[in-house]
Amino acid sequence: MRADQKSSVTVRVPAKVNVSLAVGPIRGDGYHPVHTVFQAVSLYDEVTVSVSPTPGVRITVTGQDAHLVPTGSDNLAARAAQLLADRIGQTPAVDVVIRKAIPVAGGMAGGSADAAATLVACDLLWQAGLSRDQLTELAAAIGSDVAFAVVGGTAIGAGRGELLTPVLARGKYSWVFAVVDQGLSTPAVYGEFDRLTAGIPLPQPRVRDAVFQALRGGEPTELAPLLHNDLQPAAFSLRPELVELMRVGLACRALGGVVSGSGPTVAFLVRDYHHAMDLAVGLVGVECCLFSRYAYGPVPGVRVVEGPSDWDSRDGVIL
Ligand code: C5P
Repeated sequence: MRADQKSSVTVRVPAKVNVSLAVGPIRGDGYHPVHTVFQAVSLYDEVTVSVSPTPGVRITVTGQDAHLVPTGSDNLAARAAQLLADRIGQTPAVDVVIRKAIPVAGGMAGGSADAAATLVACDLLWQAGLSRDQLTELAAAIGSDVAFAVVGGTAIGAGRGELLTPVLARGKYSWVFAVVDQGLSTPAVYGEFDRLTAGIPLPQPRVRDAVFQALRGGEPTELAPLLHNDLQPAAFSLRPELVELMRVGLACRALGGVVSGSGPTVAFLVRDYHHAMDLAVGLVGVECCLFSRYAYGPVPGVRVVEGPSDWDSRDGVIL
């Protein structure tokens, strides 16, 4: 190891919500074209990558639903470390510890976030010096949502979600994420989308211009009625209890609600933290809802954690 080389790097990485997600007909490669607005929110996983004397990539996962996360080579974080090592012609020898707060299989890109975090941490640990463009290019090869987790903020995702363009967005958006028992598999939700839309000619996916206007205005009440997700009917079809969760959230005066990505987490837009607490109380009686988390967006993508954690005590807090 060189004298200036670190022995470990810790980064934190945000979850995402799709403020609007338009989905087109399945492509020849099995993916669906999407046009979406991602927003990164202050609900973070923390990932530490440490140099190990033993070759290989070993994954350890702690925190919420850690036992549901694969720790073998199919873990997206393991794939990220291996891909970067291949790119720079190195044999990886690292331990990766993932501390989870982002719901597992919840539609908030938790696995993608961990891959993005590992990519950035390994780049620093190995002093690979890849540019942001090179990192997002590698990220896109790992999964559709990984590139967004690297950059964060508010961005349009096109292609299968990996082609990013930043969006001018003002203001701060407060969210309640209703975390649901048992995750949903993304391919299963896309499969249900195909079943529900079979025989219906689908247009090329396009987010409405009004969404961009609302984001420029920075007023959550303007954005709330425009929240949209073409995968929501598929998530509702696979998990009918989400319909009741959505109904209760809106009846409890959320500004708006939408299934997050492929679900089953339901995202409710609220005015502020106090409004979030009121809503969370209203959701307590909904059987499928395990708990609610508060978060706000937009926040930046992967960030290095230097010294003691500098998280806001409300980030991702369970209400
Ligand atoms: O890219 P990622 O590995 O996250 O995608 C997981 C699965 O979700 C894909 O194999 C595909 O079945 C589905 N998917 C899709 N269209 C997208 C993104 C994901 O069909 N745009």
